[in-house]
Amino acid sequence: MSVTIFSPIIKEEVIDAYNFAKNILKFSKDHPRDLNFYIEVFNENPKYIVIAKKNDKVVGVVLSSKENETSLLVGELVVSKELRGEGLGSLLMSKIEDNAKTMKKNQISLGAVGKAEGFYLKIGYKPKLFIQVQGNNRLDEIKQQVKGVRIDWESSGDDGYSKIIIDTNGINKNLQKMLEENLNAHTQYLFSKGL
Ligand SMILES: CC(C)(COP(=O)(O)OP(=O)(O)OC[C@H]1O[C@@H](n2cnc3c(N)ncnc32)[C@H](O)[C@@H]1OP(=O)(O)O)[C@@H](O)C(=O)NCCC(=O)NCCS
Repeated sequence: MSVTIFSPIIKEEVIDAYNFAKNILKFSKDHPRDLNFYIEVFNENPKYIVIAKKNDKVVGVVLSSKENETSLLVGELVVSKELRGEGLGSLLMSKIEDNAKTMKKNQISLGAVGKAEGFYLKIGYKPKLFIQVQGNNRLDEIKQQVKGVRIDWESSGDDGYSKIIIDTNGINKNLQKMLEENLNAHTQYLFSKGL
């Protein structure tokens, strides 16, 4: 596959990359990261963005940003439909991992959509389950449902939501379904990889 992979040099390349992701992923109106966000990220360090082009057309992108001093957060990863299953997604992720290392990061994190979980497992990312229920002080109810599972992080702050991240040691769809049914919880697998 004659694909070139690079980080943007000019702002217009960031705009093209963002629009490519937006068109395929069909961002909702309240999508948390808009074009200005990624232009600021680009101004901070172009290596947070990786673009794949074939015949001068964008065919894949990874858009990431700083999670904290040691971790890079991948916000969007997308490969054009015609080229999926040919290794481009893996190539883009390995390039962003290389870039993260040059930025002295030791971790990559991301939140996956259900359909992409298998992909991240294949390329060595470890899943943890994020669980959120509406209402403060509901941590005990969540814990009741996930007995015996290691809790990595929890918050029953004052933002109207109780949240927990647990280590499910793999993807557990039954647990997700049960939490959604019993507690009306919002759940999502968060993936990370040490570099
Ligand atoms: C997810 C995505 C980026 C993967 O890109 P890709 O170029 O098709 O992936 P690759 O060809 O590098 O696949 C690497 C491996 O993962 C597997 N794989 C790819 N997508 C998969 C999926 N959705 N579920 C399970 N396994 C998957 C491939 O079969 C391949 O396995 P192999 O090494 O045994 O052959 C691509 O499908 C995509 O753009 N999807 C729509 C957007 C999206 O969901 N992005 C992720 C948001 S969290």
